Amino acid sequence: MSSLLIRNIKNLVQAETTPRPVVKGAAMQELPQVENAFLLIENDRIAAFGPMEKCPERADSVVDATDRMVFPSWCDSHTHIVFAASREEEFVDRIRGLSYEEIAERGGGILNSARRLQQTSEDALFESARQRLEEVVGFGTGAIEIKSGYGLTIESELKMLRVIRRLKAVSPIPIKATFLGAHAIPMEYKQRRQEYVDLVVQKMLPQVAAEGLADYCDVFCDRGFFTVEETERILQAGWMYGLKPKIHANELDYSGGVQVGVANHAISVDHLEYTGDAEIEALKSGHTLPTLLPACAFFLGIPYGPARKMIDAGLPVVLASDYNPGSAPIGRMAFIVALACIKMKMLPEEAINAATINGARAMEQEAEYGSIAIGKKANVFITRPIPSIAHIPYAFGLDPVETVIVNGNIWHKPAPPLV
Ligand code: NIG
Ligand code: FE
Repeated sequence: MSSLLIRNIKNLVQAETTPRPVVKGAAMQELPQVENAFLLIENDRIAAFGPMEKCPERADSVVDATDRMVFPSWCDSHTHIVFAASREEEFVDRIRGLSYEEIAERGGGILNSARRLQQTSEDALFESARQRLEEVVGFGTGAIEIKSGYGLTIESELKMLRVIRRLKAVSPIPIKATFLGAHAIPMEYKQRRQEYVDLVVQKMLPQVAAEGLADYCDVFCDRGFFTVEETERILQAGWMYGLKPKIHANELDYSGGVQVGVANHAISVDHLEYTGDAEIEALKSGHTLPTLLPACAFFLGIPYGPARKMIDAGLPVVLASDYNPGSAPIGRMAFIVALACIKMKMLPEEAINAATINGARAMEQEAEYGSIAIGKKANVFITRPIPSIAHIPYAFGLDPVETVIVNGNIWHKPAPPLV
């Protein structure tokens, strides 16, 4: 057994004696904390915590956290970190006036990423995604979901999911894999879109399931992408293989995506920039989590999802990065929390709940991650010296994370290879 003791913690944040599986509505303002605290980790698990008066005398390693806070690691429940290349040409096209949808209609956007990914080897994709994973672990992410969806052919979708399987094997943090074959209709199927949906349902899904490559099934249900009917067909087919839905919805319009997700028992519906009363009513009627991705709204200059309205309606809002080359080239969750506060008027406590325990729930990982509770996995981070919790979103350009602890060990970013 090895033990690690963190002493003199200014605030031990999200420390729970009775772990909450998810936090909803008004309760999102509550962030349980212990001031002037200690945290004891044994092996890879949280063993004890409490006020410094009760701090154990010794441990195998001791870290002093004077002036620093300790948080449970971020749980990033929506990313696309397997991709072949960045897309800054489209970024400049948007600066010049084209919209995201106009770029997509011309065969850019997701189709551009798909063309590049199809031409890239599995090994090269693995290496670049591994580096992104390392980058976000360094930013304090302690559990993550990763999607396919830049393949759009059987071979390339499988290639992406095999890359995610390889990442799972080497990753220090847990990964959930999501099959997103229905991310966009490939150009050659534009006039026969039903055939593409057939391909997803009849060829891709059975193969993905046979190889056990995915935990969840996603569809981009939105204007210009997949219809409600197509989405429903794919989600129901996914369920036949035991893949729970977790979908992209209402980024570009009131697409019906939220309702079809709730009706098909999706774990989460993500984006939700276009959310009105009907969507909120649908969410209130089920258990599907609303996930907001403010980096996408920021980067594309589209409206932000109505976080306040959702929380005031009693919903459990989740925050995730959406790290991808087209709409959110960032995986730094502290900035996502800052955007949520600055642009969506979430309180810092609400945003932190949304990015930790609710993010864990959106990956069905809440029993092990997302808060500091006895028996949970010791994936936490120690901040640099900060005066208050609100300072994290306030100082939005600074990285609050000073020391990352993964599976009970202090994590050091591996040195870059010598060239
Ligand atoms: O979550 N909206 C759909 N999919 C991704 C972006 C895909 C892309 O532009 O590459 C998203 O924003
Ligand atoms: Fe996404």
